[in-house]
Amino acid sequence: MAVRLREAMAAALYGADGFFRRERPADHFRTSVTASPVFATAIAHLVAGVDKALGHPDVLTVVDVGAGRGELLSQVYALIGRDSRVRPVAVELADRPAGLDPGIDWRPELPEEFTGLLIATEWLDNVPLDVAVVDPDGVPRYLLDDGSLGTPLDPADAQWTDEWWPLHDPGDTAEIGLPRDRAWADAVSRLTAGLAVAIDYGHTRADRRPTLTGFRDGREVEPRFDGSTDITAHVAVDALGVPVLRQREALATLGVDGARPPLDLATADPAGYLRALSGASQAAELLAEGGLGDHWWAVQTVTIEWTPWRLSQSWTR
Ligand SMILES: C[S@@+](CC[C@H](N)C(=O)[O-])C[C@H]1O[C@@H](n2cnc3c(N)ncnc32)[C@H](O)[C@@H]1O
Repeated sequence: MAVRLREAMAAALYGADGFFRRERPADHFRTSVTASPVFATAIAHLVAGVDKALGHPDVLTVVDVGAGRGELLSQVYALIGRDSRVRPVAVELADRPAGLDPGIDWRPELPEEFTGLLIATEWLDNVPLDVAVVDPDGVPRYLLDDGSLGTPLDPADAQWTDEWWPLHDPGDTAEIGLPRDRAWADAVSRLTAGLAVAIDYGHTRADRRPTLTGFRDGREVEPRFDGSTDITAHVAVDALGVPVLRQREALATLGVDGARPPLDLATADPAGYLRALSGASQAAELLAEGGLGDHWWAVQTVTIEWTPWRLSQSWTR
C-alpha cells in the first residue's frame, strides 16, 4: 500500500535495513566535516569560546547529532587535547564505529539535558518529511511513495505551509519542514546552557523550491525508497525560528581563511608554502560560493549572551 513520503523516507533511511544503518555517509557524499580537517579546527575554536562563555564549567558536553561515523567529534576531541572536563557525545542511529576513541560517548538518542555545545551538520536535511502537492481542485494533499496523492494536509502541516511555503495553484509543491523544526526545537530544549548550531544546506522564503533528491556513490541520483540511496531535502532554515548566517561568514569569523599564501614563501620555505597552499585550498572549499560556503548556520544561545557572530545582522526573516 502506498504511504506518505515521511513514512517511506523514515523506513528507507532508518528502518532495520535502512540506508544509514548500513552505509557510511562519507562513501556517498561530501560534507563540511569530511571535506577537510579545517572544519573541525573551526569547531574546536567554537568549543573553546563556549567553554569561556560558560565560565569553564566542570563538565562541558559537546553533542554532535547525526554524527555519521564520529569524524567531527574525533577530530575536535583530539584538537582540544582530551580535556578531562570535556564530554563528547555522538548521537547517531548507526552502530558505534570500531576504533572510535573510547572517550567519546555513542548513543542513539540525545541526552536529557546538558551544558555546552550542540552541533548538527547535515542532520536536519535527512529528517524525514512529507511533500504536499495541490490537486486539480486546488486542495493540498500528501504525496505518496507511488507518486499518487493521498489525504488533504493535517491542520499543523497546513498551517506550516501557509506560513512558510504557501501553495496556490494545482501542481504547486511544498516540502513540509515541520518535523525538522520540531526535531531541532527538541534537541535545543535539552541544552541547559550554551550554544546550539545546526549546519545544513537550505533555503529561505527568498529562494524556496522543491529539492528532494538522492545521493549514492558520490553522485546525485533519483531518490529511491528501498534503502539503496540517501534521501535528502534542503532545510527551510528560516522556519527554524532562530538567527541564521551563511557558512562562509560563520567560518571566516572562526579564523578560516582561503587566501593563498604569499608567493615569496615558496622560495623561503617550500614545504611550509605547500602546507599553507593545501590549507588554503581546503578552507576555500568550505567557504565556496555555490558550494559548502552557501550552507546555513542556524544559531541559538541558551542562557549565555556570547556567540562569535553579530547575529542580528544576519537574521533573514
Ligand atoms: C548526512 S549524514 C551527516 C553525517 C555527519 N554529521 C557529517 O556531516 O558528515 C546524517 C546522519 O544523521 C544520522 N541521523 C539521522 N537522524 C538521526 C537521529 N534522529 N538520531 C541520530 N542520528 C540520526 C544518520 O544516521 C546519518 O549518519
